Amino acid sequence: MDGELAAQRQQLELAGQAHLLRFWDELNEAERAELLGDLRGCHFAEITRFFERAMQVPATLQRQQKQIDEQMEPVPRDVQGSVGRDEVRLPEWEAEGLLRISENKVAVLLLAGGQGTRLGVSYPKGMYNIGLLSRKTLFQIQAERILKLQRLATEQFGHKCTIPWYIMTSGQTMESTEKFFAKNNYFGLEEGNVIFFQQGMLPAMTFDGKAILEGKSKISMAPDGNGGLYRALRNQKIVEDMEKRGIGFIHVYCVDNILVKVADPTFIGFCVKQQADCGAKVVEKTNPTEAVGVVCKVNGLYQVVEYSEIALTTAQRRNADGRLTFNAGNICNHFFTLKFLKKIVKDYEPKLRHHVAQKKIAFIDDRGQQIKPDRPNGIKLEKFVFDIFQFSKKFVVFEVLREDEFSPLKNADSQNGKDTPTTACQSLMSLHHRWVLNAGGKFVDENGTRIPDIPSSTTGMSEAVTAAVNDNLKELTDVPIKCEISALVSYAGEGLDKYVAGRDLRPPLIIDEKGVRELTTNGL
Ligand code: UD1
Repeated sequence: MDGELAAQRQQLELAGQAHLLRFWDELNEAERAELLGDLRGCHFAEITRFFERAMQVPATLQRQQKQIDEQMEPVPRDVQGSVGRDEVRLPEWEAEGLLRISENKVAVLLLAGGQGTRLGVSYPKGMYNIGLLSRKTLFQIQAERILKLQRLATEQFGHKCTIPWYIMTSGQTMESTEKFFAKNNYFGLEEGNVIFFQQGMLPAMTFDGKAILEGKSKISMAPDGNGGLYRALRNQKIVEDMEKRGIGFIHVYCVDNILVKVADPTFIGFCVKQQADCGAKVVEKTNPTEAVGVVCKVNGLYQVVEYSEIALTTAQRRNADGRLTFNAGNICNHFFTLKFLKKIVKDYEPKLRHHVAQKKIAFIDDRGQQIKPDRPNGIKLEKFVFDIFQFSKKFVVFEVLREDEFSPLKNADSQNGKDTPTTACQSLMSLHHRWVLNAGGKFVDENGTRIPDIPSSTTGMSEAVTAAVNDNLKELTDVPIKCEISALVSYAGEGLDKYVAGRDLRPPLIIDEKGVRELTTNGL
């Protein structure tokens, strides 16, 4: 240990980080080993470079913000596909996507290295019990959607196919995620087709570039943002694994959206048919302050202007029809060809600059006491997954319906009413409710009285009718009918007739491979 300590001390002095060893003499053996472990993971020459490049921005922040605002343009219509506007083309795109799945050309990649700070749990968000009737977690829901798609493609094309699932974790989520999957037998997927890899971590820094100690023997470390993906893909040879498997197209998505259509054949088919190398799924942003980034062009290049980086006046701009000018709300669902991804990983990733997020970071003061500051005292450096849109030669955007595809889990129920476990469950059950009605089922209450139907979609209705329907829908869905359909039964509402057509169903109920199971409220 002494030799290593001397070497570390020298390195740290050179990098202006010698303060990290200031409690060394007070540490016991285990604490010393912990601190040396942290230090081994920090390459300060590189970290200082990242810091300096990233911090060049705040010096000119106002000018840069002004430039972004002046140069922002909405996504042009000709690169957009839309579930609402292109209804007739959806079957063609879906067929193309399913064909590519059947050819083993499609992989999915889950970004699951985040810390879940807003949800307030100390374990990976994908393992959280959201409160569904089935008690399924986000990981299980996603696994079952993959399984179902494999089955659908296998049935249609008559040969077995696989959608490999790459899962990016971080130092904080790797072990528990892997254990959780192993304990649950990979939710029915083949173990060899679920590939875990780990993104990098960076130390939190003070505004003048000193790494922060959160304990006497612990450096405050955080994952390097979901754009840490590209470096991790290179360092852990994941691209090579994809090549070996013959993958051509990758659907990248974030863990927290309960409605995510993993490996969505329609989205994949749309991107493939447009010969795109990169694509993003969006929903219409209707509230200027909603915490979603907007896909747009800045200075002629595609990018996402993140919700934390857009000026309020720009976010509030509206077109003559009353819609927000920047309304392509990013839902963190991206498409890449492997060819594009390879180029990113090899050539472009090192050119990306980290974003700076000012944070309140717990630290140890000179007396060795931990302080939890009440205002930002430092920064975290992060790259974003969409930072590479600018390098695309053919970029497309696919707009989907929010009520069908986007309901993220961000906050705890106790925090506020938006994007919570309760709203996530409600969104899923409201979608499944509509699927049952569309398949010809009806709901009855505990007395056997019919519960009024809600319309399946407002697409194509006039604005006044849509508003009235939405009011009505809100009233009916505030307390949604408790109905949950396993993805193993239906991926997107298909194949439900045989379970529900012409039947009166009494919620709460689950439809899974065992059939329709009506549950008494306390008999779950
Ligand atoms: C993200 C998007 C935002 C979008 C919103 C939709 C980014 C940078 N921002 O914002 O544009 O409108 O989702 O819900 O994508 N993650 C990692 N490693 C990290 C950090 C995050 O893998 O170091 C993963 C998380 O586990 C999660 C995803 O990236 O699956 C999104 O991260 P999160 O911090 O929740 O992003 P938002 O701020 O909500």
